[in-house]
Amino acid sequence: MTAAPKKLFIKTYGCQMNVYDSERMAETLGQQGYVTTDNQAEADMVLLNTCHIREKAAEKLYSDLGRLKPLKAEKPDLKIGVAGCVAQAEGEEIVRRMPLVDLVVGPQSYHRLPQMEAQVQTGKRALDTEFPEDDKFDVMAARPKAKRGPTAFLTVQEGCDKFCAFCVVPYTRGAEISRPADKIIAEARGLVEAGVREITLLGQNVNAYHGGAGGLAGLCAELAKIDGLDRIRYTTSHPNDMDDALIAAHGEEPKMMPYLHLPVQSGSDRILKAMNRKHTAEAYLRLIERIRAARPDILLTSDFIVGFPGETDDDFEQTLQLIEAVGYGAAYSFKYSARPGTPAAEKEDVPSDVADERLQRLQALLTQQQRAAQNAMVGKTTTVLFEKPGRLDRQWGGKSEHLHAVHVESEEDLRGQIREVLITASAPNSLAGQLT
Ligand code: SAH
Ligand code: SF4
Ligand code: F3S
Repeated sequence: MTAAPKKLFIKTYGCQMNVYDSERMAETLGQQGYVTTDNQAEADMVLLNTCHIREKAAEKLYSDLGRLKPLKAEKPDLKIGVAGCVAQAEGEEIVRRMPLVDLVVGPQSYHRLPQMEAQVQTGKRALDTEFPEDDKFDVMAARPKAKRGPTAFLTVQEGCDKFCAFCVVPYTRGAEISRPADKIIAEARGLVEAGVREITLLGQNVNAYHGGAGGLAGLCAELAKIDGLDRIRYTTSHPNDMDDALIAAHGEEPKMMPYLHLPVQSGSDRILKAMNRKHTAEAYLRLIERIRAARPDILLTSDFIVGFPGETDDDFEQTLQLIEAVGYGAAYSFKYSARPGTPAAEKEDVPSDVADERLQRLQALLTQQQRAAQNAMVGKTTTVLFEKPGRLDRQWGGKSEHLHAVHVESEEDLRGQIREVLITASAPNSLAGQLT
């Protein structure tokens, strides 16, 4: 007789790379007899996959751990694990402050989860926040062949050597490493066999990819040869790593989607310098021109930080001017959050109310641009990859080439299909259309 499977509940915070890692951890713990559950109350193990990027993100971990206390009191055999970037940055402190935590594992040690799980089952606690040399993905469980949804993430590059003055990622994810191209291509083939039609390649600096195949452009070209893989995206790119080959690929390879997330953070050269971004606003605008020359309909998105130490009203105005000059399809914007251990944390903060006001103005402008980009789609035809039924009866939802959420009405089961859609209306965060 085999024992009933143990149940694993994973909560994922932060970026897409954490989403990918959570999948891989679930698959790896699957080999230890775990199946995943969406119901935390029935879990034998709760794993929190955390983010350290801003103070609020890190605080969530401690409040979630506090909320787990009654469950652990009720179920003493429940194991609680912390993974991700807070685990890496504050692992020892978590172990010290939070007796209910059994396991702490940093992002580069996930392949050691099976041994760590065995250790916690003996009643001991386990902490691993090393940066080992071996390729964790080689050691982690092979990906299952079971049928899956039409879109997937695939990590190709991890870590960062850029050391922007505000950012914890180089400390939590370690030095930049690229996975070998042949491993990535094999994984992509497996995903396609399991039903995936669109892959988003992930990396903290994905366009710094150098794992063979000729950089990210070469890797995309190899992936484009896979029959059944119809759409390729990648994120997040750094402006200084957008090389000619990658720009050209956007114009030449039809499987590359016309969408690019290219964070700039600020439009002021003084602030860009203080941030250690290593390019000017002008260089970024010239780069955008070249990208648009290669693929005129490309939709651009970005990240912005307001209230970086030393940011004046004039610096902020320059950020608004850069946004006006580019015309983004969408963007994420954040109030600067001082992170322990980063160079900018030593500097004096902009007053909080000033940063709040700037954030509101910036977001109002970005929202206006997002609406304009969506409205411009009305009357146009685009392809949509349908993922799931919508909220209404006979409604189906998916993503356009430009990554707009699109819904249509249809009697047919559209799941996993790529269909031409005429866009008929634009709502705040989605488009409506009809099959052509
Ligand atoms: N590697 C990517 C993004 C990494 S983090 C890049 O180079 O752009 C995602 C976004 O979080 C960043 O682009 C930045 O806008 C924001 N961010 C990072 N650290 C931050 C901090 N200390 N305070 C506020 N926002 C921050
Ligand atoms: Fe952070 Fe800068 Fe590296 Fe992006 S490039 S992960 S913002 S240090
Ligand atoms: Fe957060 Fe780590 Fe991603 S800090 S944004 S989970 S790389």
